[in-house]
Amino acid sequence: MREATAVARVGDLKPGQMKYIVIDGLPIALANVDGTLYAFGDSCRHEGGSLSSGVLRHDTVTCPLHGWTYSVRTGKSIVPPVGLRVPTYAVEIADDAVIVIVEWPDTV
Ligand code: FES
Repeated sequence: MREATAVARVGDLKPGQMKYIVIDGLPIALANVDGTLYAFGDSCRHEGGSLSSGVLRHDTVTCPLHGWTYSVRTGKSIVPPVGLRVPTYAVEIADDAVIVIVEWPDTV
């Protein structure tokens, strides 16, 4: 099931800033990289550190707890390069609203 949720206004995040959001209990980080917004899972794959509280450099985010680093574009880990990833979510802009799309698995 596709769920579209307005989570911010376009001007809320300046380039280089991140924001923590929650959609139906799902923790998500929103990042502004040179004017383009990316949404990805907020929980680090190591021990669950909040990536939105970490450091955003260009298109990478570094976890504040132990330094694991991910691409905000793909969610793939860069440090350590072991093929882990956090989920990524589509971001759409409608008028002044930032909308994050979450694809929930269908339930039976
Ligand atoms: S919890 Fe993120 S690096 Fe350890």
